[in-house]
Amino acid sequence: PRLTVIDTDPGIDDAIGILLALASPQFTIAGVTTVAGNIGIETTTRNAGRLLAFEDREDIPVFQGASAPLSRTGPEPLNLHGEDGIGGVALPDPAWLPESQHAVEWLANFLLEQPAGAVDVLALGPLTNLARLALERPEAARRIGRMIAMGGAIHEHGNVGPRSEFNLWADPEAAAVVVASGLPLVLIPLDVTRRVRATREFVETLAANVNPMAAMVGSLIESYFEGAANRESRPLHDPCVMLYALAPELFRIEELRLSVDTGNGEAAGALTISPEGSLVQVALGVDGPAALDLLARHLTAI
Ligand code: BDR
Ligand code: CA
Repeated sequence: PRLTVIDTDPGIDDAIGILLALASPQFTIAGVTTVAGNIGIETTTRNAGRLLAFEDREDIPVFQGASAPLSRTGPEPLNLHGEDGIGGVALPDPAWLPESQHAVEWLANFLLEQPAGAVDVLALGPLTNLARLALERPEAARRIGRMIAMGGAIHEHGNVGPRSEFNLWADPEAAAVVVASGLPLVLIPLDVTRRVRATREFVETLAANVNPMAAMVGSLIESYFEGAANRESRPLHDPCVMLYALAPELFRIEELRLSVDTGNGEAAGALTISPEGSLVQVALGVDGPAALDLLARHLTAI
């Protein structure tokens, strides 16, 4: 198994990604670090704790991270995935507190304790914590084995602006730092995540499964359908990060030179391919049905 840290803003699709990681023996989850994004930092942190409690995995520590972008103010907490950030599904709500250490400090120290290259980071939210790691603790950041991040749109239209995807838009300066950092980044943009879609039928099969984790993911996706424009199927953005880590052969990777727009407004966080950009591995294709099948197999295994 790979030593893995999940940096996340749960978030319904984050929650599905976390459960998939917990269900997969290929990962040893050393810790979860949280960031503000889909909802404010206290709630994303609490949701991480609730998910771990649901799986009786309170042995995995949770470290709270950035409450706001690197250098700009806002956006205001968005409540993108309902009042509680995870669509109101029934998760335990234990009397529980995160670790007292800040996410960035813990991650830096943890990376320094482990052999270089031994720790992978799976990034499911705005890149604030990881940019701070690269800026403040570069000697630790350099030890990351691989950073797989959901974010951006390359040839596809964005989901918050014509060319902007939420995670990069929420903290464009952080995204620019990470893209230019030279860290071993694999970016999983909307071009791919929109092709890993849960249909109603898929959700019903999961929700009816005897495995509580599969049933929980079924309810999470069901709540993800509420309020969605396309009610036939929903893209599973963040779980694609775990799916790439589990089965890279299902994805088509291209090396692109990318830069991040750090302007304001709806272009913020947009990616541009240009000769001045930094080399990044980007997933541009996926075998969607095979990826969904892998997700279902891991969630339903007892
Ligand atoms: C990303 O934005 C968030 O709302 C999701 O959790 C995902 O990480 C998709 O653009
Ligand atoms: Ca997310």
